[in-house]
Amino acid sequence: MSETRLFMNFINGEFVPSLGGKTFERRNPADTTDLVGIFQDSNADDIEAAVAAAKAAYATWRKVPAPRRGEILLKAADLLLARKERYSHDLTREMGKPLFEAGGDIVEAIGMAQYAGSEGRRMHGVTTPSELPNKFQMSIRQPIGVIGMITPWNFPMAIASWKMLPALVCGNTVVIKPGEDASISTFNLVECLVEAGLPPGVVNIVTGHGPSAGQPLVEHPDVPVLSFTGSTEVGRLVYELGARQIKRVSLEMGGKNPLIVMDDADLDLVEQGVVWAAFGTTGQRCTATSRVIVHRKVAEPLIERLVARAQALQIGNGLHPATEMGPLVNEAQLERVLGYIEVGKAEGATLRCGGHRLTEGTYASGWFVQPTIFTGVRPTMRIAREEIFGPVLSVIEVESFDEALAVANDVAYGLSSSIYTRDINAAYRAMHELEAGIVYINAPTIGAEIHLPFGGVKATGNGHREAGPTMLDVFSEWKSVYVDYSGSLQRAQIDNAE
Ligand code: UN1
Repeated sequence: MSETRLFMNFINGEFVPSLGGKTFERRNPADTTDLVGIFQDSNADDIEAAVAAAKAAYATWRKVPAPRRGEILLKAADLLLARKERYSHDLTREMGKPLFEAGGDIVEAIGMAQYAGSEGRRMHGVTTPSELPNKFQMSIRQPIGVIGMITPWNFPMAIASWKMLPALVCGNTVVIKPGEDASISTFNLVECLVEAGLPPGVVNIVTGHGPSAGQPLVEHPDVPVLSFTGSTEVGRLVYELGARQIKRVSLEMGGKNPLIVMDDADLDLVEQGVVWAAFGTTGQRCTATSRVIVHRKVAEPLIERLVARAQALQIGNGLHPATEMGPLVNEAQLERVLGYIEVGKAEGATLRCGGHRLTEGTYASGWFVQPTIFTGVRPTMRIAREEIFGPVLSVIEVESFDEALAVANDVAYGLSSSIYTRDINAAYRAMHELEAGIVYINAPTIGAEIHLPFGGVKATGNGHREAGPTMLDVFSEWKSVYVDYSGSLQRAQIDNAE
């Protein structure tokens, strides 16, 4: 189970080396002596070959009836399910999250394969009555072409599936550049699609880094749609480059997700929810709870519970069944998180637990950091405003529901949000007034299901929603069709203003 695998790019149904001849290594972030894989360090020539293959395949794939396309996805869902254990193992080994969480990643891909596969038999359009007699009109969905996808390492199977499967059922072809820290899961997903009958060239995988492989994909003139999940900083660049060629760009970026705790909340529920939402996936989720905004009356009892739970978490290699929190994904992430912990201390927040890298014993060969809680955090502090993407929780105390809402909304981001309260009026007000794409009532900020729209407002996104029924809007184009069977030139066709 610990062999090192060599991965080629996957272009036009074949495994091929990068034309530049370069490769890069990926090591297990929990144990850097474990060399997980060697991957192609691709360049613009590889992207060129992949886009050419996807463009050629598009000519035939777009004409395959949508129910047939959907059947391939449904079959892939069964294959993913049968291989869930092996793929979870690969995913944990490449990016570090514990096995039980990795299983959740595969389950999301299975759900998406079933959901998008079933769309093959729906993909409804619109018919409406005409203003004129003997005239029929409708609007139908059409595929767009080659979709360029750039995916992150934190949900390497799930997010690749959220993008790829709806794009395919709509009749598009794909070139995907997975996050360089977790490429294997994309190969696993595509392996299932190919075995389920996906023709050559319909999905192409090019591995590598952002500047050398991602940017040529973003700038390629034969790629009219880009779908990106990652940091706001890189997303902004993708958007700018895409805009020059009037591309459709779907962006899913950072978060600074608030979880409001009112003084009537069930603290048992809050405690459970916060621990998993703040420290699950080692805090490396765009939906992670990074701010607890708590009513002063219940702040201290809640903080004591959270600190006790955080200190009891089993930290270790995600491949060990007892592990509850794995390492950070790489050294740069570790440095970033430790840097923010220093920022929090320098800003005057109180470090209530954690705050250190773990280096003893088996921790020495991984990127481990303790779950960390800051209290006495003011909304103006950087640790309360900037996305840390690590297991660092800021607790902010407030005096009222209105203040909680104001603090929750006073950040650049707006992905997920949550309120714990037994007051139904407060819950409904929060539902309407939290500036976020997702609101949870009495549940933490994580756990989105694939059949509801997923995405955020403000600096988190640009209005697209890559799950739920809205996913089809990202990957298809509307065409309105008017059929006149009157056999005559009707007056309103000449002049609509009767
Ligand atoms: C992400 O954090 O990038 O809602 C995606 C959740 C998951 C997806 C998160 N189902 O927590």
